[in-house]
Parts: sequence; C-alpha cells; structure tokens
Amino acid sequence: MLLGAYTSAIGAGLSCPDWPTCYGTWVPFLQPEIIANSPYSALQIFAEWAHRGLAMTAGVLIVGTTIGAWVTHRNTPIVKWSATAALALLPLQVILGGLTVTENLQPIIVTTHLGVAILILLCLLTTFLVAYLRR
Ligand code: HEM
Repeated sequence: MLLGAYTSAIGAGLSCPDWPTCYGTWVPFLQPEIIANSPYSALQIFAEWAHRGLAMTAGVLIVGTTIGAWVTHRNTPIVKWSATAALALLPLQVILGGLTVTENLQPIIVTTHLGVAILILLCLLTTFLVAYLRR
C-alpha cells in the first residue's frame, strides 16, 4: 500500500504504460534503451514495476495466510473467513490495478483501488489480531 501511495505521489502511475507487462516485457531494466527512451525517470518506472511485483508477493503471502488460517484455526470462523475474504478481494484488486493503468488513472478506478486495499488490510488485521488473542 505504501509503495502504491509513493508511486501515485511521484506521478508514476502510468510510467509502465501497459499491463500486465511493462513496455511489453516483464523486466524492463534488462533493456536499458527502454528506460532511456521513456518520458519517465528510472525511479518512476521502478516504483510502478516494484509495486506490481510486491503486490504479487503479497498475493502469495495472502494465499499462505488463508491456508494457514483454515489449517490452524478450524474452530475460529472469524479467523478463517476474514483471511478468505482477503483472498477473495485479491483478484478484484489486481484487476483494478490493471484498469488503473489501462484507463489512464480514472479517479473512480484509482479511488476504488485504494478502497479495496483498505478492505484487504482490514481483513488481514482481523485475521491476525483474533488469531493472536486466541492463542
Ligand atoms: C495486493 C495488491 C495491491 C494493493 C494492496 C495495491 C495498493 C495500492 C495503493 C494503496 C495505491 C495508492 C492509491 C492512492 O494513493 O490513491 C496504489 C496505487 C497504484 N496501484 Fe496498486 N495495489 C495492488 C496491486 C496493483 C497491481 C497488480 C497493479 C497493476 C498495474 C497496480 C497499479 C497501481 C497503480 C498504477 C497505482 C498508482 C495510481 C496513481 O498514480 O494514482 N496495483 N495501489
């Protein structure tokens, strides 16, 4: 979420102009001419690209958290279902992230992207706090 806010704050929302790839490649930094010819700085491109990569990593961790919640908290519905809700919101968030780019930062899409991020955070905080307090 912080990297998303940073990406937005430095005006880098469209520094990877396509999606899911960035300038038609998964790792634009392997082709220096892409960075040299872009109207955006290397920092801007890196922030947007890293935001996508970190989102993917967060996604894998959310899958793990949900599996863990179902295995270790079988009898605590709030833990299982709040983790599952975070997992269910994840594909929506990824689609919204893509639309943020392809629809040129339309305010309603950027705002919904932020809203879903907050919902995912709330779900994960609930999972963590209830699991922790019930130990
Ligand atoms: C777990 C997944 C994700 C989370 C939690 C997340 C969260 C966020 C947050 C909190 C912001 C800042 C919003 C604001 O300041 O108004 C943001 C910005 C952004 N996100 Fe994501 N994001 C995720 C995945 C993605 C993906 C997969 C993309 C794919 C392109 C993406 C593209 C963007 C872009 C382009 C911005 C900048 C928007 C702007 O310039 O205003 N996000 N994200």
